[in-house]
Amino acid sequence: MKTLIQEFYNSGFLLDSSFNLEDMGHEINPFLDFVKKMEPKPFVINEEVYLKFKEFQKPVKILKTKESKTVREDLHSRVNVLKSYDWSNREIKLKHFVKHYLNRYDSLKKILLNRPSLSMPLSLSRITSQRSNDKVQAIVMVSEVRKVSSGNYFLEFEDPTGKIMGMITTKSLAYPLAESIIHDEVIGVEGTKKGRYLYVDNVFFPEIPSDRQAKRADEEVYAAFIGDLHVGSNNFLSKEFSNFLKWLKGNEGPANQKKVARKIKYLFVVGDLVEGVGIYPEQDKELLIDDVYRQYREVSKYLSQIPEEINLIMIPGNHDATRLIEPQPFPRKSFAKDLYELPNATLLSNPSRVNIHAKNDFCGFDVLLYHGTSFTWYLDNVNSLRKRGYEHPEAVLKFLLKKRHLGTPHGAVGRDMYEQDHLVMSTVPDVLASGHLHVSAITRYNSTIALSASCWQAQTSFQQKLGITPHPGKVPILNLQNNKMLMMEFCR
Ligand SMILES: [Fe+2]
Ligand SMILES: [Fe+2]
Repeated sequence: MKTLIQEFYNSGFLLDSSFNLEDMGHEINPFLDFVKKMEPKPFVINEEVYLKFKEFQKPVKILKTKESKTVREDLHSRVNVLKSYDWSNREIKLKHFVKHYLNRYDSLKKILLNRPSLSMPLSLSRITSQRSNDKVQAIVMVSEVRKVSSGNYFLEFEDPTGKIMGMITTKSLAYPLAESIIHDEVIGVEGTKKGRYLYVDNVFFPEIPSDRQAKRADEEVYAAFIGDLHVGSNNFLSKEFSNFLKWLKGNEGPANQKKVARKIKYLFVVGDLVEGVGIYPEQDKELLIDDVYRQYREVSKYLSQIPEEINLIMIPGNHDATRLIEPQPFPRKSFAKDLYELPNATLLSNPSRVNIHAKNDFCGFDVLLYHGTSFTWYLDNVNSLRKRGYEHPEAVLKFLLKKRHLGTPHGAVGRDMYEQDHLVMSTVPDVLASGHLHVSAITRYNSTIALSASCWQAQTSFQQKLGITPHPGKVPILNLQNNKMLMMEFCR
Protein backbone atom coordinates (compact mmCIF):
# COMPACT_ATOMS: atom_id res chain seq x y z
CA MET A 1 0.00 0.00 0.00
CA LYS A 2 2.80 2.39 0.94
CA THR A 3 4.49 1.82 -2.40
CA LEU A 4 1.28 2.62 -4.23
CA ILE A 5 0.72 5.82 -2.28
CA GLN A 6 4.30 6.75 -3.08
CA GLU A 7 3.51 6.02 -6.74
CA PHE A 8 0.73 8.62 -6.62
CA TYR A 9 3.23 11.20 -5.39
CA ASN A 10 5.83 10.06 -7.92
CA SER A 11 3.27 10.42 -10.73
CA GLY A 12 2.91 14.10 -9.84
CA PHE A 13 -0.44 14.01 -7.99
CA LEU A 14 -1.20 15.73 -4.73
CA LEU A 15 -3.55 14.08 -2.28
CA ASP A 16 -6.30 16.11 -0.64
CA SER A 17 -5.81 15.86 3.11
CA SER A 18 -9.44 14.69 3.60
CA PHE A 19 -8.98 11.84 1.15
CA ASN A 20 -7.60 8.62 2.56
CA LEU A 21 -6.10 6.21 0.01
CA GLU A 22 -5.53 3.57 2.64
CA ASP A 23 -9.29 2.93 2.83
CA MET A 24 -9.42 1.93 -0.81
CA GLY A 25 -8.11 -1.64 -0.47
CA HIS A 26 -7.91 -3.51 -3.79
CA GLU A 27 -9.36 -0.53 -5.67
CA ILE A 28 -6.19 1.49 -5.34
CA ASN A 29 -4.47 -0.02 -8.39
CA PRO A 30 -7.32 0.55 -10.86
CA PHE A 31 -7.81 4.00 -9.30
CA LEU A 32 -4.18 4.93 -9.99
CA ASP A 33 -4.53 3.68 -13.59
CA PHE A 34 -7.71 5.72 -13.96
CA VAL A 35 -6.27 9.02 -12.73
CA LYS A 36 -3.15 8.57 -14.87
CA LYS A 37 -5.39 8.34 -17.95
CA MET A 38 -7.67 11.26 -16.98
CA GLU A 39 -7.81 14.19 -19.37
CA PRO A 40 -7.20 16.86 -18.16
CA LYS A 41 -4.95 15.40 -15.51
CA PRO A 42 -6.22 16.27 -12.01
CA PHE A 43 -3.72 18.14 -9.91
CA VAL A 44 -5.25 17.14 -6.59
CA ILE A 45 -6.76 13.74 -5.89
CA ASN A 46 -9.92 14.25 -3.90
CA GLU A 47 -13.40 12.84 -3.36
CA GLU A 48 -14.58 14.38 -6.64
CA VAL A 49 -11.96 12.43 -8.62
CA TYR A 50 -12.91 9.28 -6.75
CA LEU A 51 -16.59 9.73 -7.67
CA LYS A 52 -15.60 10.08 -11.33
CA PHE A 53 -13.68 6.82 -10.99
CA LYS A 54 -16.73 5.05 -9.51
CA GLU A 55 -18.87 6.43 -12.32
CA PHE A 56 -16.34 5.17 -14.88
CA GLN A 57 -16.42 1.70 -13.36
CA LYS A 58 -20.20 1.39 -13.37
CA PRO A 59 -21.48 -0.74 -16.20
CA VAL A 60 -23.84 1.34 -18.26
CA LYS A 61 -27.28 -0.04 -17.69
CA ILE A 62 -29.24 -0.44 -20.86
CA LEU A 63 -32.68 -1.77 -20.26
CA LYS A 64 -34.54 -3.69 -22.91
CA THR A 65 -37.24 -1.52 -24.30
CA LYS A 66 -40.04 -2.11 -26.76
CA GLU A 67 -38.34 0.41 -28.97
CA SER A 68 -35.16 -1.67 -29.18
CA LYS A 69 -37.19 -4.59 -30.47
CA THR A 70 -39.20 -2.74 -33.04
CA VAL A 71 -36.19 -1.24 -34.81
CA ARG A 72 -34.70 -4.64 -35.54
CA GLU A 73 -35.54 -6.24 -38.83
CA ASP A 74 -37.55 -9.41 -38.91
CA LEU A 75 -35.12 -11.72 -40.70
CA HIS A 76 -34.75 -15.44 -40.97
CA SER A 77 -32.16 -17.06 -38.68
CA ARG A 78 -31.11 -20.58 -37.82
CA VAL A 79 -28.38 -22.04 -35.64
CA ASN A 80 -27.48 -25.67 -36.06
CA VAL A 81 -24.81 -27.06 -33.74
CA LEU A 82 -22.58 -29.46 -35.69
CA LYS A 83 -20.09 -30.34 -32.96
CA SER A 84 -19.78 -29.46 -29.31
CA TYR A 85 -18.20 -31.44 -26.47
CA ASP A 86 -19.59 -32.14 -23.07
CA TRP A 87 -17.86 -33.10 -19.87
CA SER A 88 -16.40 -36.61 -19.82
CA ASN A 89 -14.14 -37.42 -16.93
CA ARG A 90 -12.38 -40.72 -17.42
CA GLU A 91 -9.10 -42.39 -16.82
CA ILE A 92 -6.66 -41.93 -19.71
CA LYS A 93 -4.64 -45.00 -20.57
CA LEU A 94 -1.92 -45.69 -23.12
CA LYS A 95 -4.47 -47.26 -25.47
CA HIS A 96 -6.32 -43.92 -25.63
CA PHE A 97 -3.13 -42.12 -26.75
CA VAL A 98 -2.54 -44.74 -29.45
CA LYS A 99 -6.12 -44.52 -30.75
CA HIS A 100 -6.07 -40.73 -30.64
CA TYR A 101 -2.93 -40.44 -32.78
CA LEU A 102 -4.05 -43.19 -35.15
CA ASN A 103 -7.27 -41.28 -35.64
CA ARG A 104 -5.31 -38.08 -36.35
CA TYR A 105 -3.21 -39.97 -38.90
CA ASP A 106 -6.23 -41.54 -40.61
CA SER A 107 -8.27 -38.32 -40.71
CA LEU A 108 -5.47 -36.23 -42.19
CA LYS A 109 -4.42 -39.01 -44.56
CA LYS A 110 -7.94 -38.95 -45.97
CA ILE A 111 -7.60 -35.22 -46.62
CA LEU A 112 -4.10 -35.57 -48.11
CA LEU A 113 -5.27 -38.26 -50.51
CA ASN A 114 -7.44 -35.62 -52.21
CA ARG A 115 -4.26 -33.92 -53.43
CA PRO A 116 -3.93 -35.02 -57.09
CA SER A 117 -0.12 -34.78 -56.92
CA LEU A 118 -0.04 -37.19 -54.00
CA SER A 119 -1.58 -40.10 -55.83
CA MET A 120 0.69 -43.03 -55.07
CA PRO A 121 1.72 -43.06 -51.41
CA LEU A 122 3.39 -46.20 -50.12
CA SER A 123 3.46 -47.49 -46.57
CA LEU A 124 6.74 -46.97 -44.71
CA SER A 125 7.20 -50.75 -44.34
CA ARG A 126 7.19 -51.00 -48.14
CA ILE A 127 9.55 -48.09 -48.55
CA THR A 128 12.08 -49.43 -46.03
CA SER A 129 12.18 -52.75 -47.88
CA GLN A 130 12.71 -51.08 -51.28
CA ARG A 131 15.94 -50.58 -53.16
CA SER A 132 17.81 -47.31 -52.90
CA ASN A 133 17.29 -44.51 -55.44
CA ASP A 134 13.59 -45.26 -55.94
CA LYS A 135 11.35 -42.20 -56.04
CA VAL A 136 8.53 -42.69 -53.51
CA GLN A 137 5.63 -40.89 -51.86
CA ALA A 138 4.31 -41.48 -48.34
CA ILE A 139 1.86 -40.05 -45.85
CA VAL A 140 3.61 -39.78 -42.52
CA MET A 141 3.37 -38.42 -39.03
CA VAL A 142 6.42 -36.34 -38.10
CA SER A 143 7.77 -37.63 -34.80
CA GLU A 144 10.90 -35.49 -34.83
CA VAL A 145 12.23 -32.49 -36.70
CA ARG A 146 15.67 -31.02 -36.01
CA LYS A 147 17.73 -28.43 -37.85
CA VAL A 148 21.48 -29.08 -37.60
CA SER A 149 24.40 -26.65 -37.92
CA SER A 150 24.83 -27.40 -41.64
CA GLY A 151 21.32 -26.04 -42.19
CA ASN A 152 19.93 -29.46 -43.15
CA TYR A 153 16.82 -30.81 -41.44
CA PHE A 154 16.81 -34.28 -39.89
CA LEU A 155 13.36 -35.76 -39.46
CA GLU A 156 11.79 -38.92 -38.19
CA PHE A 157 8.64 -40.14 -39.91
CA GLU A 158 6.24 -42.85 -38.89
CA ASP A 159 3.03 -44.42 -40.08
CA PRO A 160 1.07 -47.40 -38.70
CA THR A 161 3.46 -49.80 -40.50
CA GLY A 162 6.90 -48.47 -39.55
CA LYS A 163 9.42 -45.64 -39.28
CA ILE A 164 12.04 -44.01 -41.49
CA MET A 165 14.57 -41.23 -41.08
CA GLY A 166 14.02 -38.23 -43.34
CA MET A 167 16.40 -35.56 -44.56
CA ILE A 168 15.76 -32.18 -46.17
CA THR A 169 19.03 -30.72 -47.36
CA THR A 170 19.66 -27.07 -48.15
CA LYS A 171 19.63 -28.05 -51.85
CA SER A 172 16.23 -29.76 -51.70
CA LEU A 173 13.27 -28.13 -53.46
CA ALA A 174 11.36 -28.74 -50.22
CA TYR A 175 13.85 -26.69 -48.16
CA PRO A 176 11.72 -23.48 -48.03
CA LEU A 177 8.91 -25.54 -46.47
CA ALA A 178 11.12 -27.33 -43.95
CA GLU A 179 10.87 -24.69 -41.22
CA SER A 180 7.07 -24.99 -41.36
CA ILE A 181 7.17 -28.69 -40.47
CA ILE A 182 6.28 -29.33 -36.85
CA HIS A 183 6.33 -32.50 -34.81
CA ASP A 184 3.18 -34.63 -34.46
CA GLU A 185 1.74 -33.35 -37.72
CA VAL A 186 0.64 -35.48 -40.67
CA ILE A 187 2.10 -34.55 -44.06
CA GLY A 188 2.74 -36.06 -47.46
CA VAL A 189 6.35 -36.43 -48.56
CA GLU A 190 7.97 -37.29 -51.86
CA GLY A 191 11.61 -38.19 -52.17
CA THR A 192 14.32 -40.70 -52.88
CA LYS A 193 15.34 -43.47 -50.55
CA LYS A 194 19.09 -43.61 -50.02
CA GLY A 195 20.27 -46.11 -47.43
CA ARG A 196 18.43 -45.48 -44.14
CA TYR A 197 17.21 -42.07 -45.25
CA LEU A 198 14.40 -40.69 -47.32
CA TYR A 199 15.77 -37.58 -49.03
CA VAL A 200 12.67 -35.39 -49.26
CA ASP A 201 12.23 -33.08 -52.23
CA ASN A 202 8.53 -32.31 -51.92
CA VAL A 203 6.24 -31.76 -48.93
CA PHE A 204 2.42 -31.69 -49.00
CA PHE A 205 0.34 -30.15 -46.23
CA PRO A 206 -3.34 -31.19 -45.94
CA GLU A 207 -4.50 -27.68 -47.02
CA ILE A 208 -7.83 -26.06 -47.77
CA PRO A 209 -8.90 -26.75 -51.38
CA SER A 210 -8.35 -23.70 -53.58
CA ASP A 211 -11.37 -24.28 -55.83
CA ARG A 212 -14.11 -23.63 -53.26
CA GLN A 213 -16.64 -20.89 -53.93
CA ALA A 214 -17.34 -18.36 -51.19
CA LYS A 215 -20.91 -18.77 -49.93
CA ARG A 216 -23.55 -16.06 -50.21
CA ALA A 217 -26.95 -15.87 -48.51
CA ASP A 218 -29.87 -14.44 -50.49
CA GLU A 219 -30.58 -11.63 -48.03
CA GLU A 220 -28.58 -8.99 -46.23
CA VAL A 221 -27.87 -10.36 -42.79
CA TYR A 222 -24.78 -10.12 -40.55
CA ALA A 223 -22.75 -12.15 -38.06
CA ALA A 224 -20.56 -10.29 -35.54
CA PHE A 225 -17.62 -11.69 -33.62
CA ILE A 226 -16.42 -10.61 -30.21
CA GLY A 227 -14.30 -12.28 -27.54
CA ASP A 228 -11.93 -11.83 -24.61
CA LEU A 229 -14.30 -9.72 -22.55
CA HIS A 230 -12.42 -10.47 -19.30
CA VAL A 231 -15.24 -9.19 -17.12
CA GLY A 232 -13.94 -8.97 -13.54
CA SER A 233 -10.58 -7.55 -14.56
CA ASN A 234 -9.96 -3.94 -13.61
CA ASN A 235 -8.88 -3.50 -17.22
CA PHE A 236 -12.30 -4.55 -18.56
CA LEU A 237 -13.52 -1.72 -20.80
CA SER A 238 -17.06 -1.49 -19.47
CA LYS A 239 -17.95 1.81 -21.15
CA GLU A 240 -16.74 0.72 -24.56
CA PHE A 241 -18.49 -2.64 -24.25
CA SER A 242 -21.69 -0.94 -23.19
CA ASN A 243 -21.41 1.34 -26.22
CA PHE A 244 -21.15 -1.76 -28.40
CA LEU A 245 -24.27 -3.20 -26.76
CA LYS A 246 -26.12 0.06 -27.32
CA TRP A 247 -25.12 0.06 -30.97
CA LEU A 248 -26.26 -3.55 -31.33
CA LYS A 249 -29.81 -2.46 -30.50
CA GLY A 250 -29.90 -0.50 -33.71
CA ASN A 251 -30.52 2.97 -32.28
CA GLU A 252 -27.01 4.39 -32.27
CA GLY A 253 -24.60 5.76 -34.85
CA PRO A 254 -24.93 6.98 -38.43
CA ALA A 255 -27.68 5.54 -40.64
CA ASN A 256 -25.44 3.04 -42.45
CA GLN A 257 -24.15 1.66 -39.14
CA LYS A 258 -27.65 1.46 -37.68
CA LYS A 259 -28.69 -0.50 -40.75
CA VAL A 260 -25.95 -3.09 -40.12
CA ALA A 261 -26.76 -3.34 -36.40
CA ARG A 262 -30.44 -4.00 -37.14
CA LYS A 263 -29.55 -6.84 -39.46
CA ILE A 264 -27.15 -8.66 -37.12
CA LYS A 265 -28.69 -12.05 -36.42
CA TYR A 266 -25.67 -13.87 -35.02
CA LEU A 267 -23.22 -12.75 -32.36
CA PHE A 268 -20.31 -15.08 -31.59
CA VAL A 269 -18.31 -14.78 -28.37
CA VAL A 270 -15.05 -16.67 -28.73
CA GLY A 271 -14.00 -17.21 -25.12
CA ASP A 272 -12.48 -15.51 -22.07
CA LEU A 273 -15.87 -14.20 -21.07
CA VAL A 274 -14.54 -13.51 -17.60
CA GLU A 275 -11.10 -12.75 -16.21
CA GLY A 276 -11.20 -15.76 -13.87
CA VAL A 277 -9.32 -16.09 -10.63
CA GLY A 278 -5.84 -17.54 -10.09
CA ILE A 279 -5.04 -17.72 -13.79
CA TYR A 280 -1.54 -16.21 -13.45
CA PRO A 281 0.70 -15.09 -10.53
CA GLU A 282 -0.43 -11.90 -8.79
CA GLN A 283 -3.59 -11.71 -10.91
CA ASP A 284 -5.49 -10.65 -7.78
CA LYS A 285 -3.89 -7.20 -8.03
CA GLU A 286 -5.71 -6.62 -11.31
CA LEU A 287 -9.12 -7.95 -10.30
CA LEU A 288 -12.10 -5.73 -9.84
CA ILE A 289 -14.27 -8.73 -8.98
CA ASP A 290 -12.31 -11.43 -7.19
CA ASP A 291 -15.04 -14.08 -7.21
CA VAL A 292 -15.61 -16.09 -10.36
CA TYR A 293 -19.34 -16.62 -9.63
CA ARG A 294 -19.81 -12.87 -9.42
CA GLN A 295 -17.78 -12.42 -12.60
CA TYR A 296 -20.23 -14.69 -14.46
CA ARG A 297 -23.19 -12.85 -12.97
CA GLU A 298 -21.69 -9.58 -14.16
CA VAL A 299 -20.98 -10.79 -17.70
CA SER A 300 -24.54 -12.17 -17.87
CA LYS A 301 -25.89 -8.72 -16.96
CA TYR A 302 -24.10 -7.27 -19.97
CA LEU A 303 -25.07 -10.05 -22.36
CA SER A 304 -28.71 -10.01 -21.25
CA GLN A 305 -28.91 -6.55 -22.85
CA ILE A 306 -28.49 -8.07 -26.30
CA PRO A 307 -31.78 -8.13 -28.21
CA GLU A 308 -33.31 -11.59 -28.07
CA GLU A 309 -33.61 -11.66 -31.86
CA ILE A 310 -29.82 -11.99 -32.05
CA ASN A 311 -28.52 -15.53 -31.66
CA LEU A 312 -25.75 -15.42 -29.09
CA ILE A 313 -23.27 -18.25 -29.60
CA MET A 314 -20.55 -18.60 -26.97
CA ILE A 315 -17.51 -20.73 -26.24
CA PRO A 316 -15.09 -20.59 -23.29
CA GLY A 317 -11.39 -19.70 -23.28
CA ASN A 318 -8.45 -20.32 -21.00
CA HIS A 319 -9.68 -17.72 -18.45
CA ASP A 320 -13.10 -19.34 -18.07
CA ALA A 321 -14.17 -21.70 -15.31
CA THR A 322 -13.71 -24.91 -17.22
CA ARG A 323 -10.90 -27.43 -17.60
CA LEU A 324 -7.77 -26.28 -19.43
CA ILE A 325 -7.48 -29.32 -21.67
CA GLU A 326 -9.16 -29.09 -25.06
CA PRO A 327 -11.88 -29.59 -26.10
CA GLN A 328 -13.05 -27.39 -23.23
CA PRO A 329 -16.73 -27.83 -22.40
CA PHE A 330 -18.67 -24.68 -21.56
CA PRO A 331 -18.45 -23.81 -17.81
CA ARG A 332 -20.96 -25.75 -15.78
CA LYS A 333 -24.30 -24.27 -14.78
CA SER A 334 -23.10 -24.06 -11.16
CA PHE A 335 -20.65 -21.34 -12.27
CA ALA A 336 -22.52 -19.59 -15.05
CA LYS A 337 -26.19 -20.10 -14.16
CA ASP A 338 -27.30 -16.73 -15.53
CA LEU A 339 -25.73 -17.40 -18.94
CA TYR A 340 -27.67 -20.67 -19.16
CA GLU A 341 -30.85 -18.68 -18.61
CA LEU A 342 -30.34 -16.27 -21.51
CA PRO A 343 -33.12 -17.20 -23.96
CA ASN A 344 -31.06 -16.48 -27.09
CA ALA A 345 -27.81 -18.17 -25.96
CA THR A 346 -26.20 -21.29 -27.41
CA LEU A 347 -23.39 -22.41 -25.10
CA LEU A 348 -20.76 -24.53 -26.82
CA SER A 349 -17.34 -25.99 -26.17
CA ASN A 350 -13.95 -24.72 -27.32
CA PRO A 351 -13.51 -25.70 -30.13
CA SER A 352 -16.92 -26.28 -31.66
CA ARG A 353 -18.63 -26.11 -35.03
CA VAL A 354 -21.91 -24.50 -35.86
CA ASN A 355 -23.90 -23.89 -39.03
CA ILE A 356 -25.78 -20.61 -39.32
CA HIS A 357 -28.51 -19.29 -41.56
CA ALA A 358 -29.36 -22.50 -43.43
CA LYS A 359 -32.61 -22.43 -45.39
CA ASN A 360 -34.32 -24.79 -47.81
CA ASP A 361 -32.27 -23.44 -50.71
CA PHE A 362 -29.12 -22.42 -48.80
CA CYS A 363 -26.76 -24.70 -46.90
CA GLY A 364 -25.66 -21.98 -44.46
CA PHE A 365 -22.21 -21.00 -43.24
CA ASP A 366 -20.09 -23.48 -41.26
CA VAL A 367 -18.30 -21.59 -38.50
CA LEU A 368 -15.44 -23.19 -36.62
CA LEU A 369 -14.99 -21.54 -33.24
CA TYR A 370 -11.67 -21.84 -31.48
CA HIS A 371 -10.51 -19.61 -28.64
CA GLY A 372 -6.86 -19.81 -29.76
CA THR A 373 -4.96 -21.01 -26.70
CA SER A 374 -2.51 -22.95 -28.91
CA PHE A 375 -1.55 -19.81 -30.89
CA THR A 376 1.13 -18.81 -28.39
CA TRP A 377 2.93 -22.12 -28.96
CA TYR A 378 3.04 -21.46 -32.72
CA LEU A 379 4.17 -17.88 -32.20
CA ASP A 380 6.98 -19.01 -29.91
CA ASN A 381 8.13 -22.04 -31.89
CA VAL A 382 7.60 -21.51 -35.62
CA ASN A 383 10.28 -19.23 -36.96
CA SER A 384 8.20 -17.56 -39.68
CA LEU A 385 5.41 -16.80 -37.19
CA ARG A 386 7.77 -15.69 -34.43
CA LYS A 387 9.31 -13.15 -36.80
CA ARG A 388 5.89 -11.63 -37.49
CA GLY A 389 4.93 -11.64 -33.81
CA TYR A 390 1.78 -11.46 -31.71
CA GLU A 391 0.41 -8.61 -33.80
CA HIS A 392 -0.37 -11.01 -36.64
CA PRO A 393 -2.93 -13.64 -35.65
CA GLU A 394 -3.89 -13.91 -39.34
CA ALA A 395 -0.52 -15.57 -40.04
CA VAL A 396 -1.19 -18.21 -37.35
CA LEU A 397 -4.73 -18.77 -38.64
CA LYS A 398 -3.49 -19.39 -42.18
CA PHE A 399 -0.81 -21.73 -40.83
CA LEU A 400 -3.46 -23.78 -38.99
CA LEU A 401 -5.74 -23.88 -42.02
CA LYS A 402 -2.90 -25.31 -44.12
CA LYS A 403 -2.26 -27.94 -41.44
CA ARG A 404 -6.01 -28.58 -40.94
CA HIS A 405 -5.35 -28.81 -37.21
CA LEU A 406 -5.96 -26.42 -34.32
CA GLY A 407 -3.13 -27.50 -32.03
CA THR A 408 -0.83 -30.07 -33.56
CA PRO A 409 2.15 -30.67 -31.24
CA HIS A 410 1.45 -32.46 -28.02
CA GLY A 411 2.78 -29.55 -25.95
CA ALA A 412 0.82 -26.80 -27.76
CA VAL A 413 -2.25 -27.29 -25.58
CA GLY A 414 -3.42 -29.85 -23.06
CA ARG A 415 -5.85 -32.13 -24.86
CA ASP A 416 -8.32 -34.82 -24.01
CA MET A 417 -7.26 -38.16 -25.47
CA TYR A 418 -10.59 -38.92 -27.06
CA GLU A 419 -10.44 -41.80 -29.51
CA GLN A 420 -11.10 -39.14 -32.12
CA ASP A 421 -8.75 -36.17 -32.40
CA HIS A 422 -11.26 -33.34 -32.23
CA LEU A 423 -8.72 -30.63 -33.07
CA VAL A 424 -8.44 -31.94 -36.65
CA MET A 425 -10.37 -29.74 -39.11
CA SER A 426 -12.01 -32.70 -40.80
CA THR A 427 -14.34 -30.44 -42.80
CA VAL A 428 -13.47 -27.10 -44.38
CA PRO A 429 -14.96 -24.20 -42.40
CA ASP A 430 -16.43 -21.17 -44.15
CA VAL A 431 -15.29 -19.12 -41.17
CA LEU A 432 -12.60 -19.85 -38.58
CA ALA A 433 -13.22 -17.48 -35.68
CA SER A 434 -10.73 -17.10 -32.85
CA GLY A 435 -9.50 -14.73 -30.17
CA HIS A 436 -7.03 -15.09 -27.29
CA LEU A 437 -4.27 -12.84 -28.66
CA HIS A 438 -6.39 -9.71 -28.02
CA VAL A 439 -5.40 -8.48 -31.45
CA SER A 440 -7.98 -8.12 -34.20
CA ALA A 441 -7.43 -9.47 -37.71
CA ILE A 442 -9.37 -10.58 -40.74
CA THR A 443 -7.92 -12.67 -43.52
CA ARG A 444 -9.06 -15.02 -46.24
CA TYR A 445 -7.44 -18.28 -47.20
CA ASN A 446 -8.81 -20.17 -50.20
CA SER A 447 -12.28 -18.73 -49.58
CA THR A 448 -12.26 -19.54 -45.86
CA ILE A 449 -12.53 -16.39 -43.76
CA ALA A 450 -10.25 -16.46 -40.74
CA LEU A 451 -10.55 -13.84 -38.05
CA SER A 452 -9.34 -12.84 -34.64
CA ALA A 453 -11.93 -11.06 -32.57
CA SER A 454 -10.12 -8.32 -30.65
CA CYS A 455 -10.87 -7.90 -26.91
CA TRP A 456 -12.58 -5.68 -24.34
CA GLN A 457 -9.68 -5.45 -21.94
CA ALA A 458 -7.07 -2.68 -21.90
CA GLN A 459 -3.40 -3.65 -21.81
CA THR A 460 -2.57 -5.69 -18.71
CA SER A 461 0.73 -5.44 -16.85
CA PHE A 462 1.56 -8.94 -18.13
CA GLN A 463 1.04 -7.83 -21.75
CA GLN A 464 3.06 -4.71 -21.06
CA LYS A 465 5.98 -6.86 -19.89
CA LEU A 466 5.76 -8.93 -23.10
CA GLY A 467 5.43 -5.83 -25.26
CA ILE A 468 1.99 -6.86 -26.52
CA THR A 469 -0.28 -4.02 -27.59
CA PRO A 470 -3.90 -5.20 -27.65
CA HIS A 471 -6.53 -3.92 -30.14
CA PRO A 472 -9.55 -3.54 -27.85
CA GLY A 473 -13.06 -2.70 -28.92
CA LYS A 474 -12.98 -3.87 -32.55
CA VAL A 475 -15.69 -6.08 -33.96
CA PRO A 476 -15.26 -8.07 -37.18
CA ILE A 477 -18.62 -8.39 -38.92
CA LEU A 478 -19.51 -10.72 -41.79
CA ASN A 479 -22.11 -9.76 -44.37
CA LEU A 480 -23.57 -13.16 -45.25
CA GLN A 481 -25.06 -11.82 -48.45
CA ASN A 482 -21.88 -10.65 -50.18
CA ASN A 483 -19.34 -12.61 -48.08
CA LYS A 484 -17.50 -9.38 -47.23
CA MET A 485 -16.09 -8.46 -43.85
CA LEU A 486 -16.10 -5.11 -42.14
CA MET A 487 -14.55 -3.96 -38.87
CA MET A 488 -16.41 -1.77 -36.38
CA GLU A 489 -14.48 0.13 -33.71
CA PHE A 490 -15.76 1.02 -30.26
CA CYS A 491 -12.56 2.33 -28.67
CA ARG A 492 -11.19 5.75 -29.38
FE1 LIG B 1 -8.07 -13.26 -23.36
FE1 LIG C 1 -7.32 -16.46 -23.80
